[in-house]
Amino acid sequence: MQRTSLEIIQENRDYTLFSWSVQGSANPIHLKKGQGVWFWDGEDNRWLDFSSQLINLNAGHQHPKIIEAIKKQVDELCFAGPSFATEPRGVLGKKLAEVTGLAKTFYTLGGSEANENAMKIARLFTGRDKIITRYRSYHGATMGSMTASGDPRRWPVGPGVPGIVRVFDPYCYRCPFGQKVETCHRECVSHIEEIIQMEGPSTIAAILVEGITGSNGLLVPPDDYYPKLRALCDKYRILLIDDEVMSGFGRTGKWLATQHYGITPDIVTCAKGLTSGYMPLGAVIVSDAIARYFETNMLWGGLTYSGHPVSCAAAIGNLNMYEEDHVFDNVDKQGAYLASRLEEMKRNHACVGDVRYKGLFSVIELVKDKATREPLAPYNGSSPEMAALATHLKKNHVYAFSRFNMLWVCPPLIVTEDEMRYGLDIVEAGLDLVDQALAPELTASGTGVRK
Ligand SMILES: Cc1ncc(COP(=O)(O)O)c(C=O)c1O
Repeated sequence: MQRTSLEIIQENRDYTLFSWSVQGSANPIHLKKGQGVWFWDGEDNRWLDFSSQLINLNAGHQHPKIIEAIKKQVDELCFAGPSFATEPRGVLGKKLAEVTGLAKTFYTLGGSEANENAMKIARLFTGRDKIITRYRSYHGATMGSMTASGDPRRWPVGPGVPGIVRVFDPYCYRCPFGQKVETCHRECVSHIEEIIQMEGPSTIAAILVEGITGSNGLLVPPDDYYPKLRALCDKYRILLIDDEVMSGFGRTGKWLATQHYGITPDIVTCAKGLTSGYMPLGAVIVSDAIARYFETNMLWGGLTYSGHPVSCAAAIGNLNMYEEDHVFDNVDKQGAYLASRLEEMKRNHACVGDVRYKGLFSVIELVKDKATREPLAPYNGSSPEMAALATHLKKNHVYAFSRFNMLWVCPPLIVTEDEMRYGLDIVEAGLDLVDQALAPELTASGTGVRK
């Protein structure tokens, strides 16, 4: 007998633990099927997937080219231990070297493990132990990657692993140094140099940063941030680890977000968009110098599923599809439309303090007051207005990620302009509701609080 949707949800709740949830409050949607930018719940409601699940389903649901690549590999060979050579493992390694400008790849199962291994590799290669990371960052949920994150999700598991030193972010809308981007001296980089001096340059193995910070506010850095950071790393022989788990593999219209800024990191970590989530896979891609070091030195690391042939085949299918279908061109085109709509929202809505975007990677930052920039919800908190916005999106079957005072718009990279318009119109109606809640008398009289 077929189970009802309610029974399926109940069984999930009775026998499984949900991430980042007080279990009694977990309220999962039964996801029954998906196609392109859409998915259907157990009651056959069609939802627009405006956050590509966890900002990872870059190819959209059920892409036939990736399905075919997986099926072909499953028929041929489902598994090989990590010490064996397989065709997909090598083909993907070569492709990753090509698109990143780096040399060799160590495979993991996801982003947290990728960062975990990147930090370990940096420590082995440099013989130094400290890692500099940024406060507004998320690098994963395993112990080392969680400690490396600045995200408040690390608080309950502190103190975590030793050797992490945190610095401030290029958050130009709320500059931690009280500066304006037009006139500042990039204190967001120069203060890192001071911290390096205080900590001892010879003790610092690497600076680990998200290419473009994702779940902590989508912070697009000034154009010269990365060249300056790269120069700082070179000056002190510190490795630059670029976490492209969320911002990489097409999300911003390039293979890596840092490629917008003309620099090459020493190590790139990635996952999510690498397979578009069709199979679990992460990667640590290292420079030629690091690869050569491990020719004669032991790589102290390994995972049973490292180089899983079906995961590698899924990634090859996904990356080939990106190229054959000119997916990055679509990101540029739809990204331009998204940018114009977001800028319009900023002009027209009292509650929109800032909008930040690169390609199809974007966030709307909501405020109580444009002049004071008071956030619509506190850091690590929520508010009735943010909850009302989330409810509005849910009621209209638009699935979008929101957190603190921010709403992310990150659709699959194969989205069309009609689909973008459909979703953005619903988002905009939600912003109307927030404007009304903040200043009901002005919006009702049409005196232009929205303008
Ligand atoms: C930038 C970044 N790094 C690392 C991770 C962790 O990846 P995973 O959840 O695959 O372990 C995430 C997940 O959201 C991420 O956004």
